[in-house]
Amino acid sequence: MQDQLNALKLGVEQGVAQAKTSADLEAVEIRYLGRKGELTDLLKKLPTLEPAERAKMGASANELKRQMEILIASRRSQLDQESLSKLSETERADVTEPGNRPLEGHLHPMTKAINEITEIFSRIGFVRTRYPEVDWDWFAFEALNMPKDHPARDEWETFFMDAPVSKKGKMVLTPHTSNAQVRELERGEFPVRMINIAKCYRRQSDATHVPMFHQFEGLYVDKGVSIAHLRGVLDYFAQEFFGPDRKTRLRPFHFRFTEPSFEIDISCGVCGGTGVTADKQKCRMCKRGWLELGGAGMVHPNVLKAGGVDPKKYTGFAFGWGVERTYSMKEGLKIDDIRVLYKNDLRFNKQF
Ligand code: DAH
Repeated sequence: MQDQLNALKLGVEQGVAQAKTSADLEAVEIRYLGRKGELTDLLKKLPTLEPAERAKMGASANELKRQMEILIASRRSQLDQESLSKLSETERADVTEPGNRPLEGHLHPMTKAINEITEIFSRIGFVRTRYPEVDWDWFAFEALNMPKDHPARDEWETFFMDAPVSKKGKMVLTPHTSNAQVRELERGEFPVRMINIAKCYRRQSDATHVPMFHQFEGLYVDKGVSIAHLRGVLDYFAQEFFGPDRKTRLRPFHFRFTEPSFEIDISCGVCGGTGVTADKQKCRMCKRGWLELGGAGMVHPNVLKAGGVDPKKYTGFAFGWGVERTYSMKEGLKIDDIRVLYKNDLRFNKQF
């Protein structure tokens, strides 16, 4: 029996030495020390031995079992250690590797344009104001020297609100930002240096018009304000916003709320001021190389009076331009249909 025990010991030692994984090791353990294993089988034969021999063999078998268990346990911890260090190799996290960037959005091009316009004017002391975008007829028309039923009103294809009429007339969706002029004058603080940027609404939709658009309205009222100041401010803005290459021109015009009045034009960025595109087509964006940005002029005395300001003491200039139109004329931008600004097509929006 001692020989059998010795053979068993050798078997276990070899099995343990050859085990490459913990599964191999477990197989060895089951084969020799398991409930139906070889050592157990051998121990079953103990009762058949002489009492003295039985005690000796019993002790010897138990000692063998103990040694084998220690051997297996130490090999197991060795194998565990090895597989752990392999894991830290294969699953190592390189903390210096660049991460996956989350998708990052940005402001809509119009919001950016509004911020930029605000910033440019703030540098020369113009403060951005906010006035209602649903306002009384009085502020939108009448106080601007356009009496009820005056034909000049037809140019502002106005949306009227289905709302109660007050002393200030009907309510309208503001067709321009000029409603802010009299509201600002009523505050009675001089000098007035306002830049009002707001939504405007008109019943129109084509390549150069959208029914909801934005305007920015400048108003400067103080003692001794002249056309020279107006020119200076317009030139300043044109150079800051469009860059030194774009040209502006003033054309005499007529508005009820300014006298004299002008139309401000800027050379077209799509056709480079020629009126003809690279593929020899008539430019869809402009009229013969010039794009009409909007109006300007010296504030009409009747408007000053409507705002409670004495036109003998104070003079001022005003201007009102479309943000969309102004932005699409900005250097380097070739937008030939203004409606794309509000289609929310990411392929377009992502470019800005
Ligand atoms: N409100 C005018 C429009 O929507 C633009 C305008 C013209 C504004 C002359 C002004 C101005 O302040 O002085 O067409």
